[in-house]
Amino acid sequence: MKAIKRSLVAFFLLLVITARADEGMWLPLFLQQLNEKQMKSMGMKISASDIYNINKGSLKDAIVSLGGFCTGEVISEQGLILTNHHCGFDAIQNHSTLERNYIRDGFWARNKGEEIPNPGLFVTFIVRIEEVTKSALAGVTQGMTEQERQSAIDKNIAALRSGVKREAYQDYFVRSFFEGNQYFLFVTETYKDVRLVGAPPSAIGNFGKDTDNWMWPRHTGDFSMFRIYAGTDNKPAEFSENNVPYKPKKALSISLDGMKEGDFTMVFGFPGRTTQYLHSAAVEQIVKVNDPAKIAIRDKALGVIDGFMRRDEQIKIQYAAKYASISNSWKKWQGEVLGLTSTNAVAKKKAYAAEFQKRVNANPAFKEQYGTLLGDLEAAYQELNKYGLARDYYTETISRIEAFALGSRINSLAGIKQKNGDKAFKDAVPKTIETLGELYKEYSPAVDKKLFEVLMQKFTNDQPEEFLAPELLTLVKSYQSDFAKMADDFYTNVDLLNNGPKVLANLKANPDLVLMANDLNKANQLFLQLNSHYASTVTKKLSGIQARVNQLQRTYMKAQMEVMKEKKFYPDANSTLRVTYGNVKGYQPRDAVKFDFYTYLDGVMDKYKPGDYEFDVPEKLRTLYKNKDFGQYGKNGKMPVCFIAMNHTTGGNSGSPALDANGNLVGLNFDRAWEGTMSDINYDPSICRNIMVDIRYVLFIVDKYAGAGHLVQEMKLVRAGKK
Ligand code: ARG
Ligand code: GLU
Repeated sequence: MKAIKRSLVAFFLLLVITARADEGMWLPLFLQQLNEKQMKSMGMKISASDIYNINKGSLKDAIVSLGGFCTGEVISEQGLILTNHHCGFDAIQNHSTLERNYIRDGFWARNKGEEIPNPGLFVTFIVRIEEVTKSALAGVTQGMTEQERQSAIDKNIAALRSGVKREAYQDYFVRSFFEGNQYFLFVTETYKDVRLVGAPPSAIGNFGKDTDNWMWPRHTGDFSMFRIYAGTDNKPAEFSENNVPYKPKKALSISLDGMKEGDFTMVFGFPGRTTQYLHSAAVEQIVKVNDPAKIAIRDKALGVIDGFMRRDEQIKIQYAAKYASISNSWKKWQGEVLGLTSTNAVAKKKAYAAEFQKRVNANPAFKEQYGTLLGDLEAAYQELNKYGLARDYYTETISRIEAFALGSRINSLAGIKQKNGDKAFKDAVPKTIETLGELYKEYSPAVDKKLFEVLMQKFTNDQPEEFLAPELLTLVKSYQSDFAKMADDFYTNVDLLNNGPKVLANLKANPDLVLMANDLNKANQLFLQLNSHYASTVTKKLSGIQARVNQLQRTYMKAQMEVMKEKKFYPDANSTLRVTYGNVKGYQPRDAVKFDFYTYLDGVMDKYKPGDYEFDVPEKLRTLYKNKDFGQYGKNGKMPVCFIAMNHTTGGNSGSPALDANGNLVGLNFDRAWEGTMSDINYDPSICRNIMVDIRYVLFIVDKYAGAGHLVQEMKLVRAGKK
């Protein structure tokens, strides 16, 4: 038994420690030093300095962070950018009405004059990256509390300001890497006039919707196009009719060659957040406690919203984006649990920790510093357990019920009046009108009341008494646990929850009236009680334990880099620019099931269900298919749609370009395969795959389907590996 256990440990270790070709989200400035050799051995034909170079135009100059939540890339000399349909969705939705339904029908500007501005949407280029660890950590000592440490670092970073070389129109930010062991500075250029150029109908851009989301085989044309506008000097400028299309330092060339199994690919973009270096106890908690709880709460919420959306076209438009975003993480967490379980991630983390401990124990200097580290971390996580669960219950419940958000906007206003007086209060009213107006646009009282009923019931029934506000318990008792009745009473006759236009008008005419009404708003009273009970029973505890965990995790990170010398470390994703690379490859999700790496339009037609809200196919696309009218984009009579590869991506990489060995654009990243979504916690080459739309499908839809061939004219197309 012992021998088996030992060889099992050794086996896992081999998997865990060897530097795997496909894993990692690498900082572009270290590619030459850390990755170039391996990238070339995997097939890359260009060099690291073609990807990242601060002295001449390089691929990085074609990559933008889109609004801070997605990635986009410049694909023409006139500032045209490509991103996902789901990244542009907010913009598409904002310009849609029942009569002019761009979600349903798509939108294509026939000329630049028809491109639609999107106030608030911006794109950010990265001009330069520099390491600033020394300056950031100057004067920081071991004995400091987390708070003292952070404020010292904040001061250091603020002091950098005058020394950062940059143009007046450029900005910069500093981020922590490796859990606070390293710091990097990013000089940026942000353009704020970004206009919608085109989007396919949802039946193409979000084909398969939530059923197919996170799934392979996939058949979605998940793309949309925008254009960056600049001042006449090509510099960033606020929106103006006089702005002109931005002339980029670099626009990507597009290859029509497609990909074969084993081909080199890389994905360049802004991955949001990963946690690759957690203690096994933390991973275990995610699998057993947090993910299951969050999934179950969202099950309920989605059930409610879906019921309404299927019956009511207006609610369907209003709640489309909200539903998609709630369901997106809900489904991802399920895949995460599945993948972590099927690949024995916890056992692998334990084996890794055991090896770490063994090496630490064998070295007196390490032992002195890190001897008790793993034990301390484990103890901290045990303590965190129930508070982490209470946090999940609270945030998943509170943030779903819009009555609370509405009430809280008015509370803020009341707070301003109380603290800063009448003038400040009056000044703050217009902003409140604006944010409430935004909330109301995507709000239906019927939906929210049902959400309140269902979620408050779950919140109350599932949790131990210590996390339930006494006022809530009293309410529940007085309603004899009839949450429907309680919801009814709370929502009926409350203008804030039922009559948005009236509240907005009152805010303008007599804002004090709105404050007074909110004092009587029972949903808001409950919200304040829940909020204060949470603050005293959970937040306080949690922030203490979390500070300890952060400090231990930071030490663990540093220790791993010192102790596991043969391992090549990459920093966790933190919404900064990264490169990931891997070969095109299928996978085997479970016994007897093997997935190929390409999908075709034939697969779209296989899934086609006339009139279905997820799998309908527009008539024009069916006709193009029937006539095999694929133009220059088809191959051997077939139209490629999506493909997968081993690139290590995460949320935020949506819209990232997939580049081939020559650095040409071949696809657009938009998702990962379900079984492998645990790559955020433990990348596993056997099942972790990123999903991309083939660029030929994008161009086929733009050109043949939408008749917007003038956009293709702007682009630079290359064939047969020619540069
Ligand atoms: N899963 C992808 C991502 O995380 C796509 C989400 C949008 N698509 C959808 N059907 N909800 O962003
Ligand atoms: N769809 C994700 C996004 O919005 C990308 C998929 C992933 O999480 O890998 O960024």
